[in-house]
Amino acid sequence: MTTGRKSRRLSFQRAVLGETRALWMHVDLHRFVNGLIFGLLLAALVAAVNFQHTWPGAEQAIGHSLLILALCTICSIYLVTFESRRIRAFRAIGSVGILSIIPIAAAVWLPDFGLPVHVNPVVMVAFIFGIVYSERTAVMLSLMLCVLIGLSLQITHPRQLGAMPYDLAVVLFAGATVAALGCGKIRKRSKLLKLGLLSAVVQVALIAAAALRAGGPLDYRDAIFGFTNGIVWAVLVTALLPLIEQVFKVATGISLLELSDQSHPLLRQLSLEAPGTYHHSLILGNLAESAGEAIGINSLMLRVGAYYHDVGKLAKPEYFVENEEMQGSMHSNLSPTMSALIITAHTKDGAQLARDKGLPEPIVDLIQQHHGTSLVEFFYHRAKELNGTQVDPELFRHPGPKPQTKEAGVLLLVDSVESASRALPEPTPSRIARQVHDVINRKLIDGQLDECELTLTDVHKIEQNLIRSLTSVFHGRIKYPEPDEPITGRDQNGR
Ligand SMILES: [Fe+2]
Ligand SMILES: [Fe+2]
Repeated sequence: MTTGRKSRRLSFQRAVLGETRALWMHVDLHRFVNGLIFGLLLAALVAAVNFQHTWPGAEQAIGHSLLILALCTICSIYLVTFESRRIRAFRAIGSVGILSIIPIAAAVWLPDFGLPVHVNPVVMVAFIFGIVYSERTAVMLSLMLCVLIGLSLQITHPRQLGAMPYDLAVVLFAGATVAALGCGKIRKRSKLLKLGLLSAVVQVALIAAAALRAGGPLDYRDAIFGFTNGIVWAVLVTALLPLIEQVFKVATGISLLELSDQSHPLLRQLSLEAPGTYHHSLILGNLAESAGEAIGINSLMLRVGAYYHDVGKLAKPEYFVENEEMQGSMHSNLSPTMSALIITAHTKDGAQLARDKGLPEPIVDLIQQHHGTSLVEFFYHRAKELNGTQVDPELFRHPGPKPQTKEAGVLLLVDSVESASRALPEPTPSRIARQVHDVINRKLIDGQLDECELTLTDVHKIEQNLIRSLTSVFHGRIKYPEPDEPITGRDQNGR
């Protein structure tokens, strides 16, 4: 390796590692504060619900509060460690806190209205946590909630329920776990109902086991309510799914599958008015899904995000290189600055159009972030040719923001690589590999992946996956005659 290349590589490594370290320091403090707020908020809410119902005396109240605080702290440590990305927003912390208090309030207050303790929405909350976060987090939060329910009932109904809070905690936790474990990758509404039925059966079986242990006959009222407790919440979650997606700004597999249908009005419009962009989006869907699978992220989200990522081009489809074939370039009479303005507007236009059409927020984010703040190099270099070196590169950058999630980071890389590969003359495996490596390196050095938590290992896996996918796409392609004009190796979007 020459000295020049070595020093360039070292400065690149320093830039990447320095930026990454700075990002993690920021995330550490942010997630720590969010975790602390969550623990304190939930402990305060649980204590308020308990003591509002029954005041046990100062000493017992202090001891009870400390137990609750310990449990909530353990839970917040878990969230900070394993769900830090999702609890960055204060809104997420608030939603988890409010959802968590519902089953505890129900356990404390429903027996006063003559309803059995087995009717408890912890199963519904487990469904929601499983859909919004992950199965693992849903199980952990359900465990915490069931222990909190047991502790709360011990203080608020010590005489009426006796040893029942412990039985109840086990019954509810088992029912919630069955619900939580199945809903990570839900793609059909009927699966939610099947999970509800399974949860109901498990709860009835454990209510019977608790009756056996107590040496008494099975109370059929408890069994019926235990069974209902599984089914009703599953039906309710199924009905409320669109609302849950909206409140928590998530997209479930069910709505993503619906959006991947090519007869969706927006995709049909894209295929009619911007056929080149539509074709590019379809290819990108396959590439992005495969790259997403390679690093274990939401690949269905990537496929759907790829289908819709360029819908903003519908505002002026003829100004984009992939749709130019019919009319020739529309940019020949425009200044480079004006051309760049038209090109960079498509992310904002796309996000607005997607919002207007009711697409879920994660897809809107993918549309908005799929170019980050990348430079529209084609028109930037043309401006430099015309005006000398006095050109402000900021005028030729996409508005951003930079990708905020791993999915958005992958989409940015795959889109850049796919667009560049279309201009590759005689694509041999080694040329494809070199181009993929160059494009990804440029994005890394430009800092486009600084805010999305993709690791260098992820980026390496994505690169290898893209080289494999593109080599197989180009393999066996008929060699067409060379075009008359020289190929620059870069498209109008500067990728
Ligand atoms: Fe784009
Ligand atoms: Fe694109």
